[in-house]
Order: sequence, then structure tokens, then C-alpha cells
Amino acid sequence: MPKLYLETFGCQMNVLDSELVLSQLRGQGYEPTDDRHSADVIIYNTCSVREHAEQKVWSRLGELRERKKNEPHLVVGVIGCMAEREGTDIFRRHPHIDILCGPAELDKLPAMVHNACVTNRQSDQPRVGRQVALMGQSVRRSSTLQVARDELEMLDLSRAISPGDQMSQAYVRITRGCNKFCTYCVVPYTRGPEVHRPPGNIIEEVRKLVDSGAKEVTLLGQTINHYFFEQNGRRTTFADLLYQIHEAVPDLPRLRFVTSFPRDFTDEALQAMRDCPRICRYLHVPAQHGNNRILKLMNRGYTIEQYREFIDRARDYMPDISIASDFIVGFPTETDEEFEQCCDIIRYARFKNSFIFKYSPRPGTVAIDRFDDDVPETVKRERNNRLLDVQGEICAQNNRAMIGKTVEVMVEGESKLVSRRAKSNTGVELGAGFQRKQSVSLSTNQTQLVGRTRGDQVVVFEGDLSLKGQLLDVVITDAQQMTLFGKRVESPAELVGAS
Ligand code: 5AD
Ligand code: SF4
Repeated sequence: MPKLYLETFGCQMNVLDSELVLSQLRGQGYEPTDDRHSADVIIYNTCSVREHAEQKVWSRLGELRERKKNEPHLVVGVIGCMAEREGTDIFRRHPHIDILCGPAELDKLPAMVHNACVTNRQSDQPRVGRQVALMGQSVRRSSTLQVARDELEMLDLSRAISPGDQMSQAYVRITRGCNKFCTYCVVPYTRGPEVHRPPGNIIEEVRKLVDSGAKEVTLLGQTINHYFFEQNGRRTTFADLLYQIHEAVPDLPRLRFVTSFPRDFTDEALQAMRDCPRICRYLHVPAQHGNNRILKLMNRGYTIEQYREFIDRARDYMPDISIASDFIVGFPTETDEEFEQCCDIIRYARFKNSFIFKYSPRPGTVAIDRFDDDVPETVKRERNNRLLDVQGEICAQNNRAMIGKTVEVMVEGESKLVSRRAKSNTGVELGAGFQRKQSVSLSTNQTQLVGRTRGDQVVVFEGDLSLKGQLLDVVITDAQQMTLFGKRVESPAELVGAS
């Protein structure tokens, strides 16, 4: 049985793609391994959103150049956004790559892997069984779009879900691609046009996942609230889809979705979130910036006033909603005053957290052609840290307000805070960003578990590892910027007393 090593970089969409690809290849007799050094087939599922993500893949590919000389049968594949963005130019830098497959062509991957393996086995000399499947720009034409849509649907439909999988959390794609063309972003070029999946197929997939033990399903789309499907005169909006899943799969305790676009989020969709108790009141709705001139240069299609109006509207419907955002700092021509408006919107919206990125010019985008990357790296770093501090203060305030409350937690496993603490006796220095100033001390006589609330807050508490995948009530006893600490509520009497 050939051994397969598949490593994933980037977003949840890539995580799901890898899962689907792995399930197909496993079905064809490839045996997954965590050790890339002993693998016969090595595949990198790549991300192109920032340069940093690509650099990691370049260095992995560099490692394989020598190995391929000594191991003629080795098959090397690059799939995902970087494959699509680089195209066949990648072979000039790395001629030892056998497979190049863009995210919109992944249904073809099993055949490509098979062909490359057969070609490479035909000789004891190093060979490259080159297989290429890229979408190119033609796919935005309506005739090819329909074909692409049908072929890709087969990949999602091929998902092999077995009752033994024991997957408590799962992703389900509802939309592929993006039509927004924000000027800094590669996604519309790498993932292609927005394509929506038929509601019946989505519901069936959620149903199967729940039958095999899923307790939380996250629907995925780049601009998920744009979901719209029409067939035989029947129209399904995003709000309709939420209601339909909620009704058709009543034994799913948690349904969530990412990522929302700040415009075109209808009242009906907010009402669905409010009225369906099993839909988590959580939104990831990237603002990207707080200044109207920069938002315009980014081609975001809304003003900061409109963004604020959306936040207000969401909170009018659900005062307890938890909202997360993304920001890009150091966009070309950004001034200090304009940057300050990012701090203002974080304070206004009181986000649960923000993912903050330094602008990274990406080949092929409008921004790289139109603007000089003129904000110096040191300024980008300062603004990045300052925004992390502003968000960190809001996180600390939000989290402190949780002390004494009882929350439902989905247990994800052992807390990394504690496993890292075990390695150093000096207490835990949490990772980068707004985690950087914190340290935690916990008693270690029982396992420290980590889980998430319905609002996506991280909770650490003591318990047995066998609780992984379960939904539990936890009373919050302490709070830090990024983490809540609590105690499991064992009995209903204690639950009442604690709240
Ligand atoms: N530079 C920096 N950040 C980017 N993002 C997308 N493109 C870029 C870029 N060129 C960020 C956006 C997006 C998140 C997934 O990545 O904030 O929401
Ligand atoms: Fe990229 Fe903008 Fe589409 Fe998001 S909405 S994937 S940032 S182009």
C-alpha cells in the first residue's frame, strides 16, 4: 500500500478540501501517514493569501529536491491556491514536482496521483510523472462554469462518512469561490467564481455527519451570506437554508457558519439566527479596515458607517451575539490617522476577537499593480501590535464580564496551555499577538481540557480526557484576554447555584 503524506496550510476551506481528498485517496488504497520522510506520495495543500504562507511551502519543496534524486518513485504534489496562482511557472523553480492541481480541480486529483505513481514506477531513474489540472480564468465564462460546478459537486458528494469516524466537529461547504475581488486578495483568482451547492445535498451531508456523531457543524463559504440557489423556479436564500437545516436535522446541537460579508446580510438571516435555538449566535464578519478611503481602495463595497449599522442591527436582534473580525494594517498609503480608525471600530464593535494581518502584496491582484507597498515594515509591525493591544483590552473586558456565568462548552481535547507548561517550569508564555503578555498557573493533578462556547470563546477547565467531543456546562471562575477558566457543573443543583 503506498503511503501518503498530506499537509494542509491555510483556511478552513483547505482543511475541508484535504479531508475530502484524503477520503478519496484512502478509498483508492493509499495509506495516510504523519511521517513525510517515509511517504511514497507527498502532497502539500497550499495557501496564497499572504507571502508568509507560501514561504513555508517553498522550503518544504526545497527539501524534496535532493530526496527525489535518490528516490525515483517518490510522487510530489502541490495542490490548492498556490498551485493555481503559480501555474506551471512552479516547474522552473521546482522541476521535481509531479502534480499541480488547483482548488477548483480537486475532483481530478485521485486520477492524477494514480497516473504519476504509475509513470514514476516505470523506471529506476528519477522521473517526473507530470500531471497538471488548473482552472485558469476561462472558468468565469458561463458554459465552463456549469461544468466546473457539476464536477466540483462530485468531490463534496464523494465524502465518505462512516459511523466509526467519531468526528464531533465537521465542516460542510455551501459555497465555493468568491466574486468580490477585494483588491488585495488572491481568492477570486485561485478559487474561482462563486458557486452555490444544492440545498438538498447540503442537508443530506449534515444529516450524515450528525448520524456519525457530529455535534457541531460549521457551514463554509468565503461570502457565506451570499448563498442563493435556484432550481425549477424554487429559490433558496441563505436564511431559507439555515431554517431548512435547523428543521431537517433537529438532533444537531450546534450549527454555525463562516465567513460573512458585511454587506447583503439580510434581516431574514439575522431572524433565523435569533429564532433557531441551535444556530450559534456567532458571526465572523471581517471589517478589514476602519477608514472609508482605505475601504474604497480595497474595493470592499461598504463604508464604515454601513459596517457599524450592520453590527448595530445584529445586536438589535441578538444582544448576546459574539462577533469576530479581520483587519489588514499597512495597506498602501495608509496614514496614522486612518489606521487609528481601525482602533475606533474595534472599540465600537467590541469584537470577541480580531485576526490582524500586515498587508502582503500578492502577485496577480489589483493592489499590487495599482499601489506601491509604501508602508514600511516597522510601521506595519507597530500598527499590528497596537491593534492587538486595543483588541486585547476589549477581549479582557468581555471575558471578565463572563465570570460567574454558566456556559455550554464543546470539549475539544487537552489544553495546550498545560502541555506547554509541563515543558517549562516558568509558567506558560502564550503564543504571539495579544496572547503575548500572559502567563497562566493551573493545578496539574487532573487533565486540563479545552473547549469552546457557542460564541467561540475558549474555555479551560479540569476534567477527564474521555469527555472529548461532549457538550458540558461550565461555570466561569476566572478570565484572561484569550481564555476563560472554569469548573464543570456536575449536577443541576450546582448549575442553579452557580448562575
Ligand atoms: N495581505 C494581508 N492580509 C490579507 N488577507 C487577505 N489577503 C491579504 C493580503 N494580501 C486577510 C484578510 C482576510 C483574511 C483571510 O486574510 O483579512 O479576511
Ligand atoms: Fe478575498 Fe474579499 Fe473574497 Fe474575502 S470577500 S475572499 S477578502 S476577495
